[in-house]
Amino acid sequence: MYSGKQPLSIINTRPPKLSSVNQFNRNFFRKDIPLLAVRVSAPKAGIFLKTPVLKGFLLHIPKVKTVVHNESNPQERLVLLGTADQEKLSPDARTFIVQEGLEIVQYLLTLDYDYWTTDEILEAVLPENTSEGTPTSFATAGHLGLCVAHVNLKDEYLSFKNIIGQVILDKNPNIKTVVNKLNNIHTQFRFFEMELLAGVPEYIVTVNESGCKFTFDFSKVYWNSRLHHEHERLVSLFNPGDVVVDVFAGVGPFALPAAKRGCVVLANDLNPESTKWAQINVINNHLTDRIRIFCEDGATFIRRITKEVWENPFPESGEVRSATQQRRELRKQPVKQQTPPRQGSKRISHFVMNLPDSAISFLPSFKNMFSELKNHPEFPEVYQNMPVVHCYCFTRELEFEAANIDIRNRVSTALNCSIEDSGVLHFVRRVAPNKDMYCISFALPQEVLL
Ligand SMILES: C[S@@+](CC[C@H](N)C(=O)[O-])C[C@H]1O[C@@H](n2cnc3c(N)ncnc32)[C@H](O)[C@@H]1O
Repeated sequence: MYSGKQPLSIINTRPPKLSSVNQFNRNFFRKDIPLLAVRVSAPKAGIFLKTPVLKGFLLHIPKVKTVVHNESNPQERLVLLGTADQEKLSPDARTFIVQEGLEIVQYLLTLDYDYWTTDEILEAVLPENTSEGTPTSFATAGHLGLCVAHVNLKDEYLSFKNIIGQVILDKNPNIKTVVNKLNNIHTQFRFFEMELLAGVPEYIVTVNESGCKFTFDFSKVYWNSRLHHEHERLVSLFNPGDVVVDVFAGVGPFALPAAKRGCVVLANDLNPESTKWAQINVINNHLTDRIRIFCEDGATFIRRITKEVWENPFPESGEVRSATQQRRELRKQPVKQQTPPRQGSKRISHFVMNLPDSAISFLPSFKNMFSELKNHPEFPEVYQNMPVVHCYCFTRELEFEAANIDIRNRVSTALNCSIEDSGVLHFVRRVAPNKDMYCISFALPQEVLL
């Protein structure tokens, strides 16, 4: 007989195991567990739960209530016990139940598909010979409204991909689409190619980052939430009034926060889908007066943008909008102009180049960038300081010192001018076991530009 000192035998709450994935069907996941229950009047149920002699015999399993309604008598409750066998109750427990005039009844607890987690269901679906753990770690894109979940399935799971997708979809009500990221990245535009596993083929998501709202088509543009901190770090280096040129701007994760900070921004991307969404994001975030969007090859853009800014500066450059002004704009009330528009800055302060695979190869485009402006009488005053380039790149050198040498060498070669002693190298993140991402920031050498 059970002494009441050790726990009752553990109830097996695992889902039934499928013998073949073809059996997959939500109704398959139904498990009836016979138990005992004690019928008590509704007011007494709480007291019953606290009775010391019953401690250790009550049912405790995750997500299942110990006290349930008695469907045949609304005045009563059923207190569930963790066994189907009366012999397992201690004599004290049984005596207490008899003395209180209570009745022990049979109870059938049913667990179903909704009860188990994604991992538990997939464990039951996938064959035992697959790797330990289940392939359910997924990232999501989009926090506002419904989002897209993306998995990166190992080859061994590919034959179960649709079931994996379906289970993730079923178990996460905020997910509308599940995709498998394929290993190929679009060579030029850097977005992942993906295949739909479950849900609707709908890839437009909205994400909040750095106080801005970004909407974009996840299947056609580059977006990486892991760069959130890097976007914030770099933007924090900019001063209100700075003219920032983002050569590979994507949908605007540097450009929009920089404009919110009070900079004016020229944002370029060769992918027309990126610039389409960047423009939509500029409008949605009420930043049309401080961001201009371009859709050109980065090299051509670098060569011509200095002249463009010189000849066509932003009129309001440098004006930081107060929170009140921004709120007024959101309410679409006209803002009274307090100060006349400024002349605007003709000077570019920063170039952002986040295309780590090949940004360094675009650096030669800075050569002679000032050739058309250098004879202008205002030029020496405007360009007392040379623009700073923030160039992202990868390296296989995993030690900082070795990476520093490698990156500076490559940049110096591209510019045909040494930058060995200038600028700052910042480690961004490890992108693969043998590959790190860095950002090198340095003032463009005069001898390159002139
Ligand atoms: C790594 S993504 C960075 C996007 C964004 N700056 C960010 O941080 O998320 C690089 C971007 O460069 C764009 N791109 C690729 N080649 C380009 C080129 N030759 N000229 C301009 N943009 C290019 C891609 O379309 C992509 O949006």
